[in-house]
Amino acid sequence: MINSSDINQPYSKQNKNPPEDYQNNHNRQHKRHNNGSIEYSSQLSTFNHNNTRQPPSSFESQHRIETQPFSKNIVAKHYNAIPVVTKRSREVSVIFGLKRFNNWIKSVLIASYTKIGYKVLDLGCGKGGDLTKWSKHQISEYVGLDIAANSYPVNNVIAQKDFKAHIVSAQFSIHYAFDSEIRVRQLLSNVANHLYSGGHFIGTTLNAYWLAKKKESTKSCKFGNSVYSIEFNENNGSSPFGLEYTYNLIGAIQGCPEYLVHLPTFKKIAKEYGLNLILNMPFHEYYKQNINNQKYNTLFHVMNVVDAKNTRISDDEWEAIGMYMVFVFQKD
Ligand SMILES: C[S@@+](CC[C@H](N)C(=O)[O-])C[C@H]1O[C@@H](n2cnc3c(N)ncnc32)[C@H](O)[C@@H]1O
Repeated sequence: MINSSDINQPYSKQNKNPPEDYQNNHNRQHKRHNNGSIEYSSQLSTFNHNNTRQPPSSFESQHRIETQPFSKNIVAKHYNAIPVVTKRSREVSVIFGLKRFNNWIKSVLIASYTKIGYKVLDLGCGKGGDLTKWSKHQISEYVGLDIAANSYPVNNVIAQKDFKAHIVSAQFSIHYAFDSEIRVRQLLSNVANHLYSGGHFIGTTLNAYWLAKKKESTKSCKFGNSVYSIEFNENNGSSPFGLEYTYNLIGAIQGCPEYLVHLPTFKKIAKEYGLNLILNMPFHEYYKQNINNQKYNTLFHVMNVVDAKNTRISDDEWEAIGMYMVFVFQKD
């Protein structure tokens, strides 16, 4: 049996660096399962028991096999091309501080809404980098979904119509859905259908308000600094959907098309699906709100977000961090 200290081990004092790379998570899941450990690993193993990958799934699709519109193929291609990140390559990354900081934000968000035994649906789960954050809370089931075939784990929850979760999580992924109203509606319909009443839809995304303000103040469609650049499509119209920009984050995202998440529109449509916006907050503010909480402050240091002299996050990284926000909806 895995005891709670094993589950907390990634953040424990003995091992200050949370293992975030895909390979580590992969191995750990199987080890736990073989030990007859916590339920969620057997859930993962059930989905992967014969070691074959499921076809990639989109969080906006109603059926497993779907014709992917062009833009979604670009996103999948982009994420498939990203090599597996090892702990070493993270250490040398220019945005090491930003990545650690973002992981802390996600950890706090997850900790704020997760209880022991919860079932979780992770939309746009990527390579499974958040698995340890969830396992800390002894959840009972974890189902991840991603459009990129290289991602892990890949499951087809949309086809499992009766699957319900206490939390639906979409970390850094909903902005890809905002190219059309149909896609946003399908995403929200899937979220609502798979969420228990009273459950939470939590996530992180780019803050459209910040981006629009930055565009205005720089009086340019293109802006950035040494770690990121954003270039708005000059042909963007006035619709709240399809407001395209290209995002570059050094060593992480290169020229992937994304779309502004127009929050008033998101909030209004979500309401139609019984999802009520209860929190939206830029990362800087969310940090200020939580850093004095002793538990999260300890986690901040254990996760090595900054070193003893608080020197890990550069000014340029801090500016880039400012463009993200957290959101939380609660289902009626
Ligand atoms: C920036 S990554 C975030 C990965 C992970 N959630 C994290 O926080 O590390 C965005 C992920 O969303 C996935 N994604 C984008 N559009 C998607 C869609 N329509 N359906 C499912 N996954 C999608 C991408 O393949 C990618 O893995």
